[in-house]
Amino acid sequence: MTQPPTSQRHALAEPARTQAFIGGAWRATASTFEVRDPWDRSLVARVADVGEAEAREAADHAVTAFATWSRTSAWEKSAILRRWFDAILAHEGELAELMAREMGKPVTEARGEVKYAAGFVEYYAEEAKRIHGETIPSQFAHKRLHTNLKPVGPVYAITPWNFPAAMVTRKVAPALAAGCTVILKPAEATPLNALRLVDLWQQAGGPPGTFQVLPCLDPVPVSRVLINDARIRKLTFTGSTEVGMRLYGQAATTMKRLSLELGGHAPFIVCADADIDAAVAQVAASKFRNAGQTCVCANRIYVHSDVHDAFVARFLLAVEGLRVGDPLDPATQIGPLVNGDALDKVVSHVDDARAGGAKVLVGGATSGGSFYAPTVLTGVRGGMKILEEETFGPVAPILTFTDEAEVLRAANNVPVGLAAYVWTRDLGRAYRMSEALDYGIVGINDGVPATPQAPFGGVKNSGLGREGGHWGLHEFLDVQYVSTVIG
Ligand code: SIN
Repeated sequence: MTQPPTSQRHALAEPARTQAFIGGAWRATASTFEVRDPWDRSLVARVADVGEAEAREAADHAVTAFATWSRTSAWEKSAILRRWFDAILAHEGELAELMAREMGKPVTEARGEVKYAAGFVEYYAEEAKRIHGETIPSQFAHKRLHTNLKPVGPVYAITPWNFPAAMVTRKVAPALAAGCTVILKPAEATPLNALRLVDLWQQAGGPPGTFQVLPCLDPVPVSRVLINDARIRKLTFTGSTEVGMRLYGQAATTMKRLSLELGGHAPFIVCADADIDAAVAQVAASKFRNAGQTCVCANRIYVHSDVHDAFVARFLLAVEGLRVGDPLDPATQIGPLVNGDALDKVVSHVDDARAGGAKVLVGGATSGGSFYAPTVLTGVRGGMKILEEETFGPVAPILTFTDEAEVLRAANNVPVGLAAYVWTRDLGRAYRMSEALDYGIVGINDGVPATPQAPFGGVKNSGLGREGGHWGLHEFLDVQYVSTVIG
């Protein structure tokens, strides 16, 4: 893998939008911050760096716009969302290239993410027309009981860098469909997709103040203003458990509705009766997607001792065949990690495992810049960092097991519970194991289960609430109960 001269990157188009988007207008700020390309650290853009004053202003606009947007007909909201969906798909190539440059996601995979992101907008454009309350039977002839569903109010959304488009639309589309207005703070590493997405929302006819984007290098002042503002009724966050717990506490003082999509440590269990070729292909897809930088990717691969050697032999071939390289090359499968801190964490996990006696079968080294070679480890044991913290990198630790109850105990023995995977051809085992796993998402013979119409979220320290499907919409709706005496 060699890196091209930086001049090739300089020939790329300037990102279309780098200012903040407040109250329906683009806004320059006194200071800016840099977005750098993880491939070669070249400058991609200087982006507006908003602070407390802009956050206060955005809150005022969100409150004003809510008065109208919350009363806009479902059909009108749906039509704007549908036009936004069309616009996102029409800009798939541009958004994917931006994503490859701002966070190093290989451009072919990034195109997949743009389609996934658009899928949330399409789904919620349809669901906007299906928000309705219920009638409830009364024991009294003179009473009628019913519920209304009402938008919770203006929302503050904080999105992560690992899915710069899909995590934006997974939060913003249901909020807008519900009739909420949204202030979004994108991750400081990846504000460019978010800014282009709000640009397309405006072009689709999204009214001023309905969706605003506040890029900033230091999220603390902006978050302080918006979390302390009692008019902002909901906080939705995707990121680390540590930050999520802090936000949970801060949001208590204004009693906000909360959605927290936090970290995971996914077990991937390959039973003795599994289709080994399919399991190998899917564990590679799950583990090495986004260079292992997803909350749901396999973190611990438990392989039954009867099939361990066959699995490992075939898995090694798959991993050795992965193409590492320039994220802008359509053939690349593994790009650089997002930054040096991400690389340091991966290095420390592999070094710790090696020191504890794990064997590195392939990889196990950096390969220039923030690249880490796709790595397979065996001989991994309890107490190693890699089994206790999310690695967020292209490292596959393999463990063995012999007994179903034993592997379920090991799989559940972590404080998080986002996604788990089981490979088996036995239907009874599939049901038994999925029911016994303390996880919000279970893939049975499926390494990539997330899709816009299904619930995504975890239990325990993996967070609160669900995104996607009708569950994701109801996170932005309050139930109002009305009891009427008709005389
Ligand atoms: C995540 O890792 O945060 C999202 C993964 C997905 O939506 O598939």
